[in-house]
Amino acid sequence: MEGDPISSLCSPAMVVDVDKVKRNAEKMRERWSNLGVTLRPHMKTHKTIECGDIMTAGSRRCIVVSTLAEACFYADHGYDDILYAYSVPFDKVEQCAVLAERLSLFQVLLDHRDALDQLRKRPLTRGLWHVWLKLDCANGRAGVLHSEPEALRLAQAIFESEGVELTGVYAHCGNTYSCKGVEQIHSVAQETTTLVLQFMEKLKAVGITCKSSIGSTPSCSQPISDMAKLSEVHPGNYVFYDVQQSVIGSCSLEDVAVRVLSRVIGHCPHRNQLLIDCGWTALSLDGAGKLPTGFAVIEGHPELRLLSMTQEHGRVEPLLGQLDYSQYPLGTLLTIIPYHACATAMMHPVYYIHSAGRLVGKWIPTRGW
Ligand SMILES: Cc1ncc(COP(=O)(O)O)c(C=O)c1O
Repeated sequence: MEGDPISSLCSPAMVVDVDKVKRNAEKMRERWSNLGVTLRPHMKTHKTIECGDIMTAGSRRCIVVSTLAEACFYADHGYDDILYAYSVPFDKVEQCAVLAERLSLFQVLLDHRDALDQLRKRPLTRGLWHVWLKLDCANGRAGVLHSEPEALRLAQAIFESEGVELTGVYAHCGNTYSCKGVEQIHSVAQETTTLVLQFMEKLKAVGITCKSSIGSTPSCSQPISDMAKLSEVHPGNYVFYDVQQSVIGSCSLEDVAVRVLSRVIGHCPHRNQLLIDCGWTALSLDGAGKLPTGFAVIEGHPELRLLSMTQEHGRVEPLLGQLDYSQYPLGTLLTIIPYHACATAMMHPVYYIHSAGRLVGKWIPTRGW
């Protein structure tokens, strides 16, 4: 298969342009190295060793993961300095402890006193629990609200706990995903950075110093100068990018490294539609109602919209007028640029890797929680 064109693959299939992946990774690395901030790339988008190696430039150090399954997978492949950036789940404390005792640096995150109690109940036989406090700086998901007095009190409690170290403060600016354009990204990035830096000052005032980390692909692709005052950033999606990121303003559509290959499998002139072999099991339903071209962008076919999907079928219609079926004989290959690469990648047990359209290998992701 190596050396064959991607068109030789059975569809649906997810293909990854390794040259774009390397370029995206290199640009992000260079940007943050110039700003003097540690880049701790997130593995959640692809969950593969090969792509992790590209993002860490082969160091296999200093990564973020979102599941314990990822943490174990990377640890089993010689990765270290892993931050499990998910409010530490009580059912997984023992497995976290085993990882913490095994690796030189395994770090966890929490946003509640009960989680701290769970860690204290399971002292490590070797070293300390390295804990990041998750702060909610207007993202509105996990994290103790930055304005709550409990945020400072919890930081102090972590700092003062025996067997536990307050490693840093982690805020995720996922609210950059509702931005359109660089100006809006800058405004969310500024708000999050300012709130985190103010919190760091409050910590300093009570004698505590530790690291700070914010980030998302939009804010780390279009940073503001104050982000240089942070210790770390933690973006992940940037290695693939997707249509969503191009709409937000993180990248251009040319930077997107992933595609789903699909073929025309039916003509439905009575509905003015084509059927393709890409259902939601190949693309995910993420992006519904967000784009004029439907669930995704069909590369080279701005006249087409991916209207809807069932498990294994997609319905495609023209944006305007009647379909000319002679342009799309059964078997025609359509290349789909996903709306959300993280969601699409989750649908595929294998990614086919190519360089300039020629297959160069396969990456197998880890799955589960
Ligand atoms: C906690 C956390 N950190 C980092 C990231 C990486 O951000 P992005 O996917 O925008 O690169 C995510 C993404 O969802 C996240 O949830």
